[in-house]
Amino acid sequence: MNYNISISKVEESNLDQLDFNNIPLGTTFTDHMFICDYENGEWVNPRIVPMGLIPTHPAAMALHYGQAIFEGMKAYKDTEGEPMLFRPEQNAKRLNLSADRMGMPNLPEDLFVEGLKELVSLEHNWIPPQQGSALYLRPFMYADEPFIGMRAATHYKFIIMASPAGPFFSKRIKLWAEKQFIRAAEGGTGEAKAAGNYAAAIRPTELAKAKGYDQVLWLDAAEHKYIQEVGTMNIFFKINDKFITPELDGCVLDGITRKSVIDLLKDRGFEVTERKITINEIQEASKDGSLKEAFGTGTAVGIAYIERIGYEGDDIFVSKDSPIGIEINQRLSDIKTGKIEDKFGWMLKTNKELA
Ligand SMILES: Cc1ncc(COP(=O)(O)O)c(C=O)c1O
Repeated sequence: MNYNISISKVEESNLDQLDFNNIPLGTTFTDHMFICDYENGEWVNPRIVPMGLIPTHPAAMALHYGQAIFEGMKAYKDTEGEPMLFRPEQNAKRLNLSADRMGMPNLPEDLFVEGLKELVSLEHNWIPPQQGSALYLRPFMYADEPFIGMRAATHYKFIIMASPAGPFFSKRIKLWAEKQFIRAAEGGTGEAKAAGNYAAAIRPTELAKAKGYDQVLWLDAAEHKYIQEVGTMNIFFKINDKFITPELDGCVLDGITRKSVIDLLKDRGFEVTERKITINEIQEASKDGSLKEAFGTGTAVGIAYIERIGYEGDDIFVSKDSPIGIEINQRLSDIKTGKIEDKFGWMLKTNKELA
């Protein structure tokens, strides 16, 4: 469908204030944003406007009842300098899965992708050229109807912001296997990318950091023994020469990096099994030497190598090195930047004229 996205440009760009070699994390935004409104049962008025404040009524339902969901993805430049998106249709699908769970309207997938393409081609000069850098994209939807009362809102906004992100150097991380707090339970909102999931994770993450760990490793709600995922990443373990990752049981986010890494590992000849994994199994594998590697996967970092996992007052040692994780991370990054063949057909060019 042709969406007729109107574009109103800034008078003066802020781009010359940005030092690409020193990009502050998460606080720099490009000149424009994409906005679309949901009214009377349909998405209307798709537009690109200067980045700025959005007037919000204090009774906007997202502020009270939490109907707010988001996505996270990145745009890259290929070797010819053309902007490319990594599997954006997957983010569109996941946004709608989150919307379904939170009683919010679906957004047409082609509108999601078209909005991204328009914004990214308009802001292509903001895509950092440095190796490992990218333009982070944050599509999100929230209920902006002013109403006090518990029901699904009838008015929503869908917005895409863009924020340049510097190179992420994957240091080896330490996880804290959490037994007191939980992230997701059967029938809950774990597989949705709902803002509330992250709100509930903030305090446990701060407590884990205070103990000297980088992120929380979430365990299941009922028995605190099955591994779910890491703060903002899915998790993989290499046991001898095979990989395992927790199955998607409704409590785990269906990560786009996760599904891509599964494909890359299989393509490299590894067996990858999605199944239930207990923390005790990993503890045993560490003790008997069969635990060779573990890593987290997510848009922000690609692959983050895990060094140890704090569990019940002890540390489960994983490994000092992650040769396969490093190799797969490099391959993923080379596909995203067009350095090697995109044999899976993951990359989407914006195909717009670049100013
Ligand atoms: C809770 C959670 N799990 C996993 C992921 C990884 O998902 P993706 O690979 O799509 O970035 C993320 C990041 O979006 C996340 O927030």
